[in-house]
Amino acid sequence: AIVYRQGALGRRPSVPVDAAELERRARRKMSRAAWAYVAGGAGEGATMRHNRAAFERWRIVPRVLHGVTARDLGTEVAGTPLRAPLLLAPVGAGALIRRDSDVLIARGAAAAGVPYIFSNQGSSPMERTATAMGDTPFWFQLYWSTDEPLVDSLVGRAEACGARAIVVTVDTTMLGWRPQDLNLGSLPFARGLGIAQYTSDPRFLELAGARPAGGERPPVTLGAIRTLLSISRAHPGGFWANLRSPLPRKAVETFLDVYSNPGHDWTQLATLRSRTSLPILIKGILHPDDARRAVEAGVDGIIVSNHGGRQVDNAVASLDALAGIRAAIGPEPTVLLDSGIRTGADVFVALALGANACLLGRPHLYGLALAGADGVRQVAENVIAELDLTMALTGAASVSALDPSLLARAAG
Ligand code: FNR
Repeated sequence: AIVYRQGALGRRPSVPVDAAELERRARRKMSRAAWAYVAGGAGEGATMRHNRAAFERWRIVPRVLHGVTARDLGTEVAGTPLRAPLLLAPVGAGALIRRDSDVLIARGAAAAGVPYIFSNQGSSPMERTATAMGDTPFWFQLYWSTDEPLVDSLVGRAEACGARAIVVTVDTTMLGWRPQDLNLGSLPFARGLGIAQYTSDPRFLELAGARPAGGERPPVTLGAIRTLLSISRAHPGGFWANLRSPLPRKAVETFLDVYSNPGHDWTQLATLRSRTSLPILIKGILHPDDARRAVEAGVDGIIVSNHGGRQVDNAVASLDALAGIRAAIGPEPTVLLDSGIRTGADVFVALALGANACLLGRPHLYGLALAGADGVRQVAENVIAELDLTMALTGAASVSALDPSLLARAAG
């Protein structure tokens, strides 16, 4: 309503309120490498197209004369109360867009009252991002490392800094085939971007040889200085912190060794339950059998996602996978959805098809590119405002009222 009133009063927002213009304007603000990494997807981009096409095959059927004057968008997922069924998706290497990206996203998320899921590939140490969230809840997203003590260290830090849940992303045991990045020869992580959770982690520093067990300091080589400089560019404040405990040039190589585990399986995953008391969600589920298995493993929620089309090209759209997954696990388990969410109407459709809440990915980074923390806030608030309006115009007084009876399949 506030967004609407401002528009009616002739005040122009600093970020466009529609997804297409938001993306166009953001692109102009971003470097080629940042655009390639953020907007790009796997292979020919078919999964990204499917994600959007899936939404376009559903129609919302408005209801009238229902007398609904106020909507309650509030809900709760995995123990976290939400003012609206929206969270900001974890995004790595945001420092490609802005220094201190995670802190700015966190401030924007907090201003909108929307949780942010901190990425394992975040651009500032999670403790710092946590401070920027204030009282707004946040979660931590983990990539399961090949180094088990590093898994414990990251989870322990997430608990200590106040994360309300752990999201284990399981679709990125290896990085997808990303032609846009490959053609530019620019993999952010290899440049020391998006590795702040590691360079601030005692276990990682030990692995990288920065603090050898024997207490002996590694030699300061030219390579080490270069690594430090590239890391410090990505993480303000990181330079001085790192200067006090110099990283050997091995840091980036060590990261590439430990960041994700292609051998990760259900048995290993099951150990997490005894390693943390936080709710656990699994991100990257697309097959009903995997969803069933996750629920049997006792997780607190699953996130239906194809990673925004960044991992497997020509993969099933998240929205197309949703109904089958909901049917397989029944109405009770918590199911979130991302990949292709651009508008409040999209959130409406996903909820009507069985999701409890949605994650917004690229659009919040576009808001960041255009207007920093305030851009992130506006993007989140616009999606929520449009969801609220759509509910008003279909007579849905609460998110639990959203069901398939409000949808029609497109003809043809
Ligand atoms: C991502 N995504 C992601 N997911 C994750 O679990 N950990 C991560 O570090 C990242 N990093 C990341 C970086 C960038 C630049 C993008 C665009 C995405 C995937 C993200 O959480 C989410 O699943 C998708 O972005 C959702 O799709 P849309 O909304 O971008 O279409």
